[in-house]
Amino acid sequence: MNTHQKSHSVPVKGGRFLLIGGASLVGSTTADLLLAQGAAEVALFDNFSFGSTDNIRHLEGDKRVRIVQGDILRLPQLLAATENIDGVLHLAAVMTISMDRDSWGGLDINIRGVQNVIEACRANRVKKLVFASSNAVYGYGPGVAGDLVESTPFHSAGAPPAAIIYGASKIIGEQLCRDAHRKDGLNYVVVRYSTVYGERQHYRAANALYIIETHDRIKKGERPRVIGDGSETKHFVYVGDLARANARAFEADATDAAVNVSGPAPVTTLELVKLVIELSGSKLTPEHVEPEAGKVRLTSGGAFRIDHAAAEKAIGWKPEIDMREGIRRLLKWRDETLAAETAKGDKK
Ligand SMILES: NC(=O)c1ccc[n+]([C@@H]2O[C@H](COP(=O)([O-])OP(=O)(O)OC[C@H]3O[C@@H](n4cnc5c(N)ncnc54)[C@H](O)[C@@H]3O)[C@@H](O)[C@H]2O)c1
Repeated sequence: MNTHQKSHSVPVKGGRFLLIGGASLVGSTTADLLLAQGAAEVALFDNFSFGSTDNIRHLEGDKRVRIVQGDILRLPQLLAATENIDGVLHLAAVMTISMDRDSWGGLDINIRGVQNVIEACRANRVKKLVFASSNAVYGYGPGVAGDLVESTPFHSAGAPPAAIIYGASKIIGEQLCRDAHRKDGLNYVVVRYSTVYGERQHYRAANALYIIETHDRIKKGERPRVIGDGSETKHFVYVGDLARANARAFEADATDAAVNVSGPAPVTTLELVKLVIELSGSKLTPEHVEPEAGKVRLTSGGAFRIDHAAAEKAIGWKPEIDMREGIRRLLKWRDETLAAETAKGDKK
């Protein structure tokens, strides 16, 4: 890595990329975009603990795609995978819900895993690392309200341990990147994602459950649930917009920077559930319920908004897809996937 080079840009066209945790919601969509923009190679490194081959099956015919089964806790596998790579996008992580089940295992992946990725980038002179962080670095609970900007501090009081452990692990991941920049000149950009939603949605992100579980209940003819009065704020980002942000982070001249990436505007959980009901063409009305005991919830101290102005300045990115359009796309994908599965089952 050379900090003295004029530009810190890694052009997508003709570039060779490794997406670590590539079989994920974010990885598969970013791979599609990098390929569409002319990348010479996109390697997807994953241990398939969460990610599924279903997410990346559509890429198998493309000669520029390489699928590498490997674990970020095994440094030799990362060293082999990063050879001749220009840009690494590091996505592999354990999020809050899974962290709640196994915090020791999760911390290993989110901290030692990041350190291994950095070491592999250093050893193989990777030109740029883009690290997938999260708005969880601002914490949760009553201290979180108003505009969240990149300098907003971490709040832990009154929030569930798993959410705080996850947020703190992302802070450490970011700081390991900064430390490697300082000591070895690692060229990196941290992208702090807000809750991601879109095609290939999974059940691992606590906030995205408001969308996917609502749709599942509607399909079963059950009334969708809203916790409390539904005035809680959530801020999402559409996965296609996020893929563009990842690509911009490579191409921009920015280095040693951290930026928020969020959708056009936040929503309340009641607005969100009503939108899913409307776009599902349902006449059901939401049912207000108490929080389920033992289920991790990501709370705040009132209305908040994750500001993405710094991303526009540093990497030339802003969101294009609002929640109405993004949810319409997610539901279309979900309905088509379920229909295809049913058709497959009928044939057996
Ligand atoms: N989904 C969200 O709402 C959200 C929000 C903020 C930040 N993020 C961050 O974005 C990234 C991607 O999120 P996603 O929703 O696409 O996640 P995901 O759970 O779909 O993907 C994580 C991927 O990493 C892989 N993985 C896990 N442990 C591994 C290991 N030890 N070695 C190799 N691969 C391993 C999994 O198999 C999976 O494919 C994560 O870093 C997450 O923390 C996600």
